[in-house]
Amino acid sequence: MMGSDKMLQRIEKSFALSLNDMRKIIKDFHAEMRNGLLRQKSSLKMIPTYVNIPAGNEKGRFIALDLGGTNFRILKLELMGKGKIGDLKARKFVLDKKHITGKGKNLFDFVARCIKVFMKKEKMSYDEKMPIGFTFSFPVEQTGIASGHLLRWTKGFSARGVIGMDVVKLLEKALDGEGISNIKVSALVNDTVGTIAARGYENRNCDVGVIIGTGTNGCYVENQMIINIEWGNFNKLKRTSYDMQLDKESDNRGSQILEKMVSGMYLGEISRLILEDLVRKKTLFRKSPPSIIFAKKYSLKTEYMSIIESDSSPNLSRTNMLLRRLGISKSSLEERKLVKKICGMVSRRASRISAAAIAAVVTKMDSNLYRKHIVAIDGSLYEKHPHFSKNIKSALREIFGRKTNRIDMMLTKDGSGKGAAVIAAITAKVEEDAAE
Ligand code: BGC
Repeated sequence: MMGSDKMLQRIEKSFALSLNDMRKIIKDFHAEMRNGLLRQKSSLKMIPTYVNIPAGNEKGRFIALDLGGTNFRILKLELMGKGKIGDLKARKFVLDKKHITGKGKNLFDFVARCIKVFMKKEKMSYDEKMPIGFTFSFPVEQTGIASGHLLRWTKGFSARGVIGMDVVKLLEKALDGEGISNIKVSALVNDTVGTIAARGYENRNCDVGVIIGTGTNGCYVENQMIINIEWGNFNKLKRTSYDMQLDKESDNRGSQILEKMVSGMYLGEISRLILEDLVRKKTLFRKSPPSIIFAKKYSLKTEYMSIIESDSSPNLSRTNMLLRRLGISKSSLEERKLVKKICGMVSRRASRISAAAIAAVVTKMDSNLYRKHIVAIDGSLYEKHPHFSKNIKSALREIFGRKTNRIDMMLTKDGSGKGAAVIAAITAKVEEDAAE
């Protein structure tokens, strides 16, 4: 493998993120946050959401819709007050390509039909008024608590005719079409905001919400209002040639730069691009005929990285199994070790960028970490990857030293849906109070 060691070292170096690099990200993040808040040029949109952390005493029965990935979920739940959630029913519906990339009307009509199915299964009446919290996890410029227009699609969505439109109106029109008039959207919520609200319902010290899943984003509290940062679009990052290639071949070229280096939608593809390069330069899999599958974009899923990175069998047999699935019938142990190393490099960088973003947000509120902060965090990558959360924590320790214990990262599963219900409850309460 002449020259390959050098090549690997070079790749490794380009993916390393030192403490100084993280400090630089924090500094740039602060500048972009400030500009975004002032509505000046910035890669961070800093969208006001019109909601604050809940009081914890919200009560009632609510429906929450969660749209933002390959599944669409509907939840029906009861908020008991005192931060407690009672009876919860949830159902998942799979979105297919025609919903994600077809006409926008297809998408919203499908959502309305799912709601109809849900209402039937749950024996819900068409008369009882029921407020819904609508989690819509894309960049939306909110114009109020229950209105906002889509700025652009992310995460591979491209449904036509939705950008620039009020997504609540689109949903209500589709509901009308299905003859459902008793349920009204009373809150439009980003998933990070849902997550902060779900945790905040039981603990008011929660002031940051983060998602690291198919996409990534964060929100925090600024002057009593939750701000949706839309951090996936942050672009002051040092990129490798593989990042550039991924961006160039993506359907949203030039945007969501941080997301493309961090989130589950892309990490597998970055690893694949590196491996493909090594195969092309004859450093890897020389005994295996050049594989068709391996050349296929997005064939290395981020879930596979989790399997590879947690493979501790002496022969890396699970890695071998996955490589076979990808069309690499023969690999040496050395080669499998290399694959594992590359996946580790890519996911480690992602976790360190995430840590820097979290650190920037916390220090934006409290520069010296004088008080405790709870970061409510959810998302498949954070939850399921074997090292991601540990790597974030150790990066935070590098940044803050002993003060890291003032940051409490709390996994908040299904937060986006539950939180949307909590926010719908806040709105319902405000409306009730106003009517009294
Ligand atoms: C979207 C955000 C969302 C994040 C996590 C990003 O692609 O722009 O609005 O919060 O994904 O789902």
